[in-house]
Amino acid sequence: MPTSLVQLENITITVWEGDGRKVVLNRANLEIPELSVTALVGGSGSGKTTTGLVILRLLPLALKLQSGKVLFNGENLLEASGVRLRQIRGGEIGMVFQEPLDAFNPVFSIGYQIDEVLQVHTDLNRIQRQKRILELLDLVGLPDPKRMARDYPHQLSGGMRQRAMIAQAIAGNPKLIIADEPTSNLDVTLQAHIIELFKKLKDELKLSILLITHDLGMVAHMADHVVVMTQGKIVERGTAKDVLSSPKHSYTQELMDALL
Ligand SMILES: Nc1ncnc2c1ncn2[C@@H]1O[C@H](COP(=O)(O)OP(=O)(O)OP(=O)(O)O)[C@@H](O)[C@H]1O
Ligand SMILES: [Mg+2]
Repeated sequence: MPTSLVQLENITITVWEGDGRKVVLNRANLEIPELSVTALVGGSGSGKTTTGLVILRLLPLALKLQSGKVLFNGENLLEASGVRLRQIRGGEIGMVFQEPLDAFNPVFSIGYQIDEVLQVHTDLNRIQRQKRILELLDLVGLPDPKRMARDYPHQLSGGMRQRAMIAQAIAGNPKLIIADEPTSNLDVTLQAHIIELFKKLKDELKLSILLITHDLGMVAHMADHVVVMTQGKIVERGTAKDVLSSPKHSYTQELMDALL
């Protein structure tokens, strides 16, 4: 068994709703092994995004963490200082979301926004950073990196923006990328390209990836491990091969049936 990079232990999160407290995550335990892709799957509202956000302590205000630990290389992030968290967010842990337009600021160029990450999370000087921005844009398969760096987010197509966001996510040399539905807004061909890109980056940069998705096709193409959630509870986990070929839990079976 490879060592785990992240371990969620006994995480319980609740939200106050008009008629009482609702449990969003129910004593969730999750391991993200090093150098592999762990897929977190489950239906809408099952708690996938919340699980990704709690790792970075970025929960919406309405959600209350009741108990648990988030161990990152053994360090409990739930007890980390603000300074340490800022090092980790965008540095040791990068994020990719469904909608890059939400992640980028519309009034700054792509290059400027990647440079912000490099300034905070690397020791590179200005000239080295300029070179690195072009390397990153090239690494994620964007044509004409010089022009891309000068472009503003709205000037890129959806697929290009997603690549640019991935470039930004890897700029701080993270060990882990949390990718929340990274391809849901793209058409099928572009989805396949982004999957290939993630696989390439995982190997070249020695990354671990937490892939949040309800696309079991993507899981089959990318994931080494699968964790299945329903209603805030983790109901099944295993290697992608085992879970996809012989799902044990009835909910996983339902997810598989829905795909056919
Ligand atoms: N800001 C919030 N305020 C109130 N309830 C919230 C908030 N964020 C999440 N929840 C509740 O927490 C539960 C889990 O939400 P979460 O976004 O983690 O689900 P998800 O599995 O990512 O769903 P989806 O597949 O639709 O993205 C949902 O029932 C949701 O109603
Ligand atoms: Mg979600």
